[in-house]
Amino acid sequence: MSISGVTRTGTEDPVVRVALLGCGTVGSQVIRLLREHGDDWAARSGARLDLVGVAVRDTSVPRDPWVPPELLTTDASALIDRADIVVELIGGIEPARGLVLQALRGGRTVVTGNKALLAAHGPELHAAVEAGDADLYYEAAVAGAIPVVYGLRESLAGDNIVTVAGIVNGTTNYILDEMATRGLSFEQALQQAQALGYAEADPTADVDGHDAAAKAAILASLAFHTRVSVDDVPVAGIRGISAEEVSAAAGAGQVVKLLAVARRTTGGVSVRVHPALLPDTHPLAAVRGAFNAVVVEAESAGRLMFYGQGAGGTPTASAVLSDVVAAAGHAIRGGHAPRESAYTQLPLLGPEETPARTQVQLRLVDRPGSLAAVAGVYGEEGVSIESVHQQRSDDGSARVVITSHIATEASLARTVERLVTESRVQEVISVTHVEGE
Ligand code: NDP
Ligand code: HSE
Repeated sequence: MSISGVTRTGTEDPVVRVALLGCGTVGSQVIRLLREHGDDWAARSGARLDLVGVAVRDTSVPRDPWVPPELLTTDASALIDRADIVVELIGGIEPARGLVLQALRGGRTVVTGNKALLAAHGPELHAAVEAGDADLYYEAAVAGAIPVVYGLRESLAGDNIVTVAGIVNGTTNYILDEMATRGLSFEQALQQAQALGYAEADPTADVDGHDAAAKAAILASLAFHTRVSVDDVPVAGIRGISAEEVSAAAGAGQVVKLLAVARRTTGGVSVRVHPALLPDTHPLAAVRGAFNAVVVEAESAGRLMFYGQGAGGTPTASAVLSDVVAAAGHAIRGGHAPRESAYTQLPLLGPEETPARTQVQLRLVDRPGSLAAVAGVYGEEGVSIESVHQQRSDDGSARVVITSHIATEASLARTVERLVTESRVQEVISVTHVEGE
């Protein structure tokens, strides 16, 4: 007997067939937790979760002892056709995209942790959901174990979100934290992050901010009910952050964090990823090591903070399995995952409309009129200065730190372009965004 494609065998619990695509860091932990706690997941969902196969690239690779060798296959496409729920944990765009589309168009539920795919091809995936009358779950795609996708998609569906700001990449937070607390250089901290397994083998997506940009696009799409692609997100990573900058921030009661920031303004939505200075009293300043956190400001709920482990096999498998249990419950009792909500179609703001603040560190020729010349550039570009701190150096130059009020990204960028060519400016040492009050 079959309910919604789910198999019932005699008087036993109904069975939901689960296909796992990928058996790496996360996939292997999904198998372990299914084996160790399958009875609990069955009791909660009302269905026995039957792992019918595990697709990998190479079946001869040694696996964790709990991975059943007889379930391994390299034919992911054939495996999908034998499943009710397809869990995609391969990562990247292809072949994940083709396999997820096959599953969705065939009316199967897909659970994925693949932020790169969602952020680049979200509309295509959601169209396939509609075409197949299928379901798409992706709690693991943003901030690992932290239930922020559920929070935005379901818990806050009755509110209007104004801002989402988060630390959504564990590797970069670990690196910045080690630089701040132990005085390590960027390279030393990155090596440690790789040794601890936080950073990818090729850490480019982490340190250059692309992983965070994909997550920012997903968060903004959910928060503002509008489509945001990873290509819409201006991104700056942490490669250019020096140990001196981090230590100067600490001396001024600030921390440097790589932030994903999405804001709704009267004109539209701005989404970006960049290193930012936060006052050390800000809730995100307290996020240490490889942890993630997302602060949401909503009209009625006010400020909410989601905090926890944003990476790692077992924490991420927790998010994957919460989706699997929900999907199995829907397969048995009826119901669907929420569909894409993109009804607002808000415009995405460009640099001329995006509000921002910066802190600029300069080395100036220490003679009359230097500071006035710099202040003049700010004024001519329509950027109001909030504070100026000057320190005399031994070599007769002056080190000046200028923090702006809120201006636009474009006017702040033009200001820096002019400072670079201003004769009394010896060096623009750093330009960093400022967030938080
Ligand atoms: P891994 O690189 O550890 O594992 C990838 C798996 O996919 C491997 O088992 C690999 O097979 C398999 N695979 C690769 N190509 C194919 C293919 N063509 N056909 C079938 N299988 C293939 O990735 P992770 O487990 O770290 O990540 C999985 C997903 O989860 C990604 O989307 C990632 O972004 C996301 N995620 C990961 C987190 C983490 O902390 N690791 C946190 C949050 C999300 P083989 O083993 O044979 O090489
Ligand atoms: N490399 C990612 C991180 C994994 O460091 O956060 C989780 O997406």
